[in-house]
Amino acid sequence: MARPRLLLATALAIVAVAVFAGLALAGPALQASPANVAAGGKLYDKWWTASPGAAAPTGDHPLWSTQTTNTRKGLDTWRCKECHGWDYLGKDGAYGSGSHRTGFAGVIEAGKSKTAAQLVAILKGASNPRHNFSPQLSDASLANLAAFLKEGLYDTKGVVDYPTRKPLNADMSRGRTSYGSTCAPCHGADGTKLNFGSEKDPEFIGTLAASNPQEFLHKVRAGQPGAAMPSAFESGWTLQDSANVLAFAQTLPIKAPAAPVAAVLPKTGGTSAPLLALALVGLGLAAAGWAVRRGVVRLTR
Ligand code: HEC
Ligand code: HEC
Repeated sequence: MARPRLLLATALAIVAVAVFAGLALAGPALQASPANVAAGGKLYDKWWTASPGAAAPTGDHPLWSTQTTNTRKGLDTWRCKECHGWDYLGKDGAYGSGSHRTGFAGVIEAGKSKTAAQLVAILKGASNPRHNFSPQLSDASLANLAAFLKEGLYDTKGVVDYPTRKPLNADMSRGRTSYGSTCAPCHGADGTKLNFGSEKDPEFIGTLAASNPQEFLHKVRAGQPGAAMPSAFESGWTLQDSANVLAFAQTLPIKAPAAPVAAVLPKTGGTSAPLLALALVGLGLAAAGWAVRRGVVRLTR
């Protein structure tokens, strides 16, 4: 009877190993990938641009009328960041005062204490039927939002000094190196190659870094919705790496660089006339010189 017992023991051991291996494999698979966290961060920023196939919402968000302090209308009222902040702190953060104030709570505590499934339920209206995004967003997008809330949030007050808007502990020379290799190809060495504002009221890397470091950090970490901009989550950057780039970006120009004279000539009638006259005089002198030289050449021939 030794044989069957040995066989049974072997079979049990194989099953045990298989179950153990299965659990070990399932473990990491339960955690969100950096790509999921980055996708969720872009949805938090502007979900209808970040979600393929999602239509832009119309009218105001159903919860918007429960506050009166933020007077924006329409699309803005549907962005997670408009109600919960770039710092995820809602009324306890940068949006606690000023034109963005709504009085709505932050999401940082929920990100820490709730499970991904509970967060998805909140986004489907479980705690408040007016907070239901399931008509607009797919289950995959809602799962990405939950992944971002669980793994992408950070304590902004530990990274940015709110009164001065400067990063608290940043290595600017490391930031310069990272900026040069990662950001400059698209944004230009001085950050003025892409203008997010208008021609009259330009907004560059430097402008946003100086005025809204929390938004800057969010976009560097998650990427820009609808743009091919890389995400620090996906590049494997630490929060410190992003803070270093913020420190360097705050040294970049916040206004448009002075345009070269030649480029403004056709538009500025006032200054172009004297300059044109000067150019004509110059041309005349050059022509005279040429004629004289030709004359001299001819005389000696
Ligand atoms: C129009 C404003 C508004 C928008 C837009 C909005 N929320 Fe909310 N959110 C609220 C309010 C108000 C609550 C509290 C709801 C309640 O009564 O339970 C809340 C609650 C939450 C909570 C739970 C917080 C807690 O501590 O229990 C999470 C998480 C959350 N929102 C995430 C999001 C995400 C992600 C988005 C974007 C898809 C979003 N919200 C968009 C207003 C908004
Ligand atoms: C592949 C090109 C590309 C790279 C690389 C890139 N960006 Fe961007 N970035 C963009 C585009 C495109 C936009 C959107 C411009 C617009 O909305 O007009 C953008 C937008 C931004 C914005 C948001 C501005 C706003 O107000 O909406 C910030 C901040 C920013 N980039 C910072 C960075 C930083 C810092 C890096 C390097 C870590 C970087 N970007 C790398 C292409 C890039």
